Amino acid sequence: MNVNIDDLPIRDELRGKSPYGAPQLDVPVRLNTNENPYPLPEPLVERIAERVREAARTLNRYPDRDAVELRTELAAYLTRTTGHQVGLANVWAANGSNEVLQQLLQTFAGPGRLAIGFEPSYSMHGLISRGTGTGWISGPRNDDFTIDVAAATAAIAAHRPDVVFITSPNNPTGTAVEAETVLALYEAAQAAKPSLVVVDEAYVEFSHRPSLLSLIEDRPHLVVSRTMSKAFGAAGLRLGYLAAHPAVVDAVQLVRLPYHLSAVTQATALAALEHTDTLLGYVEQLKAERDRLVTELRALGYEVTDSDANFVQFGRFTGEGGAHTVWQKILDRGVLVRDNGVPGWLRVTAGTPQENDAFLDAVRALKKEQSS
Ligand SMILES: Cc1ncc(COP(=O)(O)O)c(C=O)c1O
Repeated sequence: MNVNIDDLPIRDELRGKSPYGAPQLDVPVRLNTNENPYPLPEPLVERIAERVREAARTLNRYPDRDAVELRTELAAYLTRTTGHQVGLANVWAANGSNEVLQQLLQTFAGPGRLAIGFEPSYSMHGLISRGTGTGWISGPRNDDFTIDVAAATAAIAAHRPDVVFITSPNNPTGTAVEAETVLALYEAAQAAKPSLVVVDEAYVEFSHRPSLLSLIEDRPHLVVSRTMSKAFGAAGLRLGYLAAHPAVVDAVQLVRLPYHLSAVTQATALAALEHTDTLLGYVEQLKAERDRLVTELRALGYEVTDSDANFVQFGRFTGEGGAHTVWQKILDRGVLVRDNGVPGWLRVTAGTPQENDAFLDAVRALKKEQSS
C-alpha cells in the first residue's frame, strides 16, 4: 500500500512542513553544523569508559531522575566561568538544549499561546514552537543583524507573546546581544504579558563578551540555556541545560518525561566536566581560527558579519542563483558550508587549521574564477 504523510491523520499545522535537516553529505571537509572539530582527548575517552562501566553495573535500575550530581557540577561550571553564583536548584538538564527548549515551550507556551524570535536566528526555535502547538512570530533585525530594539519591543507589545527567544551569540549570524537589549526586551515582555524570556547561549564560550547569566538574578522570568554540544565538543552526547530561578526548574518538572536523562548520558557528561579545562583550551584555539577566518575572508573582499561564535557568516552573494550557487561551488571543491536560506549569505563553521585552509583555498579559487 502506497501511503505518504499526507494520507495520515497528522495535525493540520504539520501538513506540508519540512523537518529540520542540515545536509549530512560525505565530503572531505564538513563545516556546516557548528560542531567542534576536535575529537575528545584520549584521557577523557578513557574516563568516559570508566564512568560508563560503573553506570552499566546498575542499568537494571532507572537513573537518578533529578540528575543531582550532574546538575551540581553544571552549576559549579557556570559559577566558575561566569562569576555568577548558581546552585543545583537553579540548573536543569536534558537531552540537548533542544530538549530544554522543548520543555520550556511545553511548560510556558503550547496551543493558544505564542513565541517570538528575531530572525534570521536558530530555526529550531520556530520548529520546536510548532511541534508544541505554539504559534510562531518572526520578529525583525537590523541590516547588520543586531536586534532592532525599537521594532522588537513594538512587536512584543503588539503580539504579547508567552515566550521570547533571544539567541546570543546568534546563529547563523554570530552576533552577540548587549545586556541592555536583553533588559529592554525583558521589560517589554513583562509589561505586555508577562512572558518567559529565553536567552539561548549555545555558543557563549566562543564569545568576546561575558555571559548574560547574571541577568537571571531577581528576574524569575529569564532563563539562560546552554549546551555541551559546542564548547565541550560533545554534540553526540546530547546534553543541554538551563539556569534560572528555582521556580522555573520546578515548573519544567511538570512536563519532563520520567527518567529522561539516561544513566549513561549522566556518567558521560560528568566525565566531560572533569576535563573542562582541556576542552576550554580547544575553545581558545577555535576562537583564534574563527578570527582568522573573519580576517582572511575580509581580505578576499567578502562582507563578513562580526562573529562571537564558532562560525562566520559571509557574503554578499547577489549574482545568479545567489548564495546557493556559491554554496554548490564550494561543495564542488570538497568543502561543505551552510546555506541557511539567509538571502545573500553563507555560514562556515570554524574547523581545524587544515580544514579552514581547505575552505579558504576553495573560496580563493572561486574569487580567481570570477575575476578571470
Ligand atoms: C542557537 C542554538 N541553540 C541550540 C542548539 C541546539 O543544541 P543541542 O545540541 O544542545 O540540542 C543549537 C545547535 O546548533 C543552536 O545553534
